[in-house]
Amino acid sequence: MSSLVVAIDGPSGSGKSSTSRGVAARLGLRYLDTGAMFRAMTWWMLSHDVDLGDPDAIAARAGEPLIESGTDPLDPTITVDGQDASVAIRSDEVNAAVSPVSAVPAVRARLLDLQREIIAAGEGIVVEGRDIGSVVAPDAPVKLYLSADPEARAMRRAAEAGGDVAATQESLLARDRIDSGRATAPLTMADGAVHIDTTPYTLDEVISQVVALVEATVHEADA
Ligand code: DC
Repeated sequence: MSSLVVAIDGPSGSGKSSTSRGVAARLGLRYLDTGAMFRAMTWWMLSHDVDLGDPDAIAARAGEPLIESGTDPLDPTITVDGQDASVAIRSDEVNAAVSPVSAVPAVRARLLDLQREIIAAGEGIVVEGRDIGSVVAPDAPVKLYLSADPEARAMRRAAEAGGDVAATQESLLARDRIDSGRATAPLTMADGAVHIDTTPYTLDEVISQVVALVEATVHEADA
């Protein structure tokens, strides 16, 4: 599994993050949360008073923040200009601004370079996001697309982050619309991806399904 890449895409609340971390931990792989990188970029833009209604203003500064991601699935970290941003990137302000910032091509190009550097920098890795199987790692031997009913996604997110389920569902669906509709690297099911609707399964069940798929793929490649 030394250079294996497992690409996991899907909308927010589909179970992507918990599944990706669990699979990486079970298989001894590294873990990269690319959504956290887009959130970190957004947080930096908000902290530097960049006009988020102006894609050119965002693009002009996309090269500035130093974003560093730790890849231990048991303790994933994210820092911006050396400062821990793990709590700040989950704020309502960032939730509301991250999709428009992520739609700016210069932001995507900058983070694509960083993501590919991290993937290449070590041993096998589980990478989660929206465009991993389609753009970031199209040659990944294992690609998953996780989905779940909007009600289930909102309930999971509200249970994790607190807050009202109906408001959480509205915010999730608003982000889905932007993430799926943008011109550059939209959320999509990549060619060759295995689709798992996680609605009826527990987290452990989904992790076991993905681990089995990864092991089957590795054994097939070895055979
Ligand atoms: O996975 P998440 O909800 O933390 O992601 C936050 C936002 O980042 C999401 O609304 C869209 C964007 N994103 C993206 O455009 N491409 C990725 N590979 C990962 C996230």
